[in-house]
Amino acid sequence: MGKRNLISVLDMKDEWPALVDLAIKLKAERGHHNDPLKGKTLAMMFEKPSTRTRTSFDIAITELGGHALYLDVTKMQMGHGETVEDTARVLSRFVHGVMYRAFDYKMMDKLGEYTTVPVISGLDDLEHPCQALADMVTIKEKFDTFKGRKLVYLGDGNNVCNSLLYACAIMGIDMIACCPATRMPNAEIMLAAAKIAEENGSKIIASHDPKEACVGADVLYTDTWISMGDNTPEEQAIKLFQAYQINDDLLSIASPDCIVMHCLPAHREQEITNSVIEGPHSVVFDQAENRLHAQKAVLYTLLKD
Ligand code: CP
Ligand code: NVA
Repeated sequence: MGKRNLISVLDMKDEWPALVDLAIKLKAERGHHNDPLKGKTLAMMFEKPSTRTRTSFDIAITELGGHALYLDVTKMQMGHGETVEDTARVLSRFVHGVMYRAFDYKMMDKLGEYTTVPVISGLDDLEHPCQALADMVTIKEKFDTFKGRKLVYLGDGNNVCNSLLYACAIMGIDMIACCPATRMPNAEIMLAAAKIAEENGSKIIASHDPKEACVGADVLYTDTWISMGDNTPEEQAIKLFQAYQINDDLLSIASPDCIVMHCLPAHREQEITNSVIEGPHSVVFDQAENRLHAQKAVLYTLLKD
């Protein structure tokens, strides 16, 4: 098989359930991996800040016996006029995989087209597939099953929401994207995810009514109201999204064993209250840890000979 990328969740659609199971297995086997990626180097190109993605990819490849190379794009020639096509071909001569956090998915796609080694998205303006994988790992750990579960995503229909739509559709979770009309997820992704969900006997629904959407939910999920690269003024975002905040009122209408998820970084008292993120339903730090195990599953699957 030729090289493969993970730029959209759909790039590994058929392997998604196996990736979730592999991440859980690798989590249980932490410290006993036997260097399956010995001698492999992952270049990590960042155009935006990161705590979780950078740390988890670096540690993941190190614990699998390989090595990570951090590249700040502003300090690369690509940040000073060299083309992404040339960068892709040069890096392909040095490393075994490239992780890229980009502003623009078109740059991500170009990098994926021109490298001869796998490109793994560490987020762009359209998707965040590795986050969605860690999210599915977390849901499986907490509930064991996916079918018939109800996940409500509240707030901005952003990159995290788009990848979650695909991941939920693939795993058979019913998902409601509950966002203001002007900040719905990508329309093509909604449609494509709804089609996949239908094949899997589940539903993808849009809503603008948090109080109705959250009734009986198994998972409440939110993300920042202002993503990196989004210039919406804070006061405007607060007005637009206030009704979508995850707080004790919304939590009280969800299922009694509901879990609360957030990809982090969180903005307390904006998209989520301090009492909810610090409360007994919150699984956000398990979710963050699972980034590590999910990255290992992706790296193993794409980079192992
Ligand atoms: N959730 C996530 O991707 O976090 P970072 O921006 O810290 O990588
Ligand atoms: N939607 C957020 C996710 C950060 C991990 C952003 O793009 O900034």
